[in-house]
Amino acid sequence: MTGNSSFVVVANRLPVDEVRSPEGTTWRRSPGGLVTALQPVLAQHKGTWVGWTGGITKAGRPAPDPFEVDGMELCPLPLSADEMERYYEGFSNSSLWPLYHDAVEPPVYKRRWWEEYRKVNQRFADATAKVAAQGATVWVQDYQLQLVPAMLREQRPDLRIGFFLHIPFPPVELFMQLPRRAEVLKGLLGADLVGFQRPLGAHNFLQLTRHVLGLRPRGDSVELPDGRTVLAGAFPISIDFVEMERLAQSEEVRQRAAEIREELGRPAAIILGVDRLDYTKGIERRLKIFRELLAEKRLTVPGAVMVQVATPSRERIEQYQALRVKVEREVGRINGEYGRVGEPAVHYLHQSYNRAELAALYLAADVMMVTPLRDGMNLVAKEYVAARADNGGALVLSEFAGAAAELRQAFLCNPHDLDGVKELLMRAVKIEAGDAARRMRAMRRYLRAHDVQAWAESFLTALDRTGRPA
Ligand code: ADP
Ligand code: F6P
Repeated sequence: MTGNSSFVVVANRLPVDEVRSPEGTTWRRSPGGLVTALQPVLAQHKGTWVGWTGGITKAGRPAPDPFEVDGMELCPLPLSADEMERYYEGFSNSSLWPLYHDAVEPPVYKRRWWEEYRKVNQRFADATAKVAAQGATVWVQDYQLQLVPAMLREQRPDLRIGFFLHIPFPPVELFMQLPRRAEVLKGLLGADLVGFQRPLGAHNFLQLTRHVLGLRPRGDSVELPDGRTVLAGAFPISIDFVEMERLAQSEEVRQRAAEIREELGRPAAIILGVDRLDYTKGIERRLKIFRELLAEKRLTVPGAVMVQVATPSRERIEQYQALRVKVEREVGRINGEYGRVGEPAVHYLHQSYNRAELAALYLAADVMMVTPLRDGMNLVAKEYVAARADNGGALVLSEFAGAAAELRQAFLCNPHDLDGVKELLMRAVKIEAGDAARRMRAMRRYLRAHDVQAWAESFLTALDRTGRPA
């Protein structure tokens, strides 16, 4: 049985979260780079998006009916409490997430997590097989669904299947830790095209097909025993540049940015961080750097203030709870030592915001600090650049974020080298307007041409060409 959709996106999350109240259920847009990136593409293609509804559903309850939002059909898949714990919090975010991010926190492996990961991936594949039309294009997203391409191909060999990994793909030595490494690779090889953020990710993947499965990759592809060829390549994701640029130029956002500066006491330097509260993002080190600069009196309050937005994320996972405790302790310590009544040194905001408030923060910030220890791309860095149509502001960016390969005019830093980051932050704080404008202009020119629409188009064009003579 086939469905009606000629284009299907399969992702762990739908682009909305379910909010239940006594009055009934409503839907709210969910946070995260993936959602931000794909929403405009889906609306343009009028496709179906298969994904998790975001909450916990009693085991055995039927899936809610598909519904339409902004011209896209949403096909919701519920997760039970056990599935959420073992597939999402377990294998996806306690095994794969830390392993793929250079094991900056030790990955945890549990056999029952794998079993649930396999079962939930099967459910995503089954639901997709039902909605996809004959010969449809299916685009599977990210590390939570690495088995879906092969499971889907088994049922529907007529489909053209693409897979894109939003997070880094680790080097051979690290990937070899994964208890079910062969199954994961075989899952990905169900796709016609496997996309990564960086060429290194594609290279690591092809090497692993040789190392683990004994295949013989050649150039950017590998041939399977059944004669099928799988292509691997880099497709760095981006943002809706024009949307962020327009938003940041709106009267409302400009006024709000001025208001934020006013509320912060009109400091000479507003240093901003905007991250999910995740141990890959380097938030603790960033706070330590600020504390040391205050201790050395190279920065002083209220002339310099830090605003750290730490979006709540994966809150039931132990490592995330521990991180929150550490970050909040450090914020308390800094404010205790260097704040004054009504003048904290760090403004810490553990909240989600709408796009306009984020744009206003970007516009108000003199220095944006994006200093992850490892990050597939980092869309916040790109959003900051898009928001700065005034060519003001300076970006301090970790070399370990995918974005560093593209935003070459940022102050590129090694987040492990605290003294090095301190020097760069001070240079960014003291930057001359001319130098700042020159850097910002170059980054804006690049991003305008390399936005999320261009990303999706290049991936889908490459996918469309697979299996055809060059
Ligand atoms: P990740 O995908 O790891 O969360 P990215 O930087 O690539 O990291 O993407 C984060 C996305 O979430 C960005 O589009 C950013 O604007 C958005 N975001 C970050 N913090 C918040 C927040 N507090 N409220 C709403 N959106 C946020
Ligand atoms: O970018 C990686 C990613 O896991 C996305 O798949 C996801 O949308 C985002 O980060 C937020 O994470 P989560 O869906 O676990 O809240």
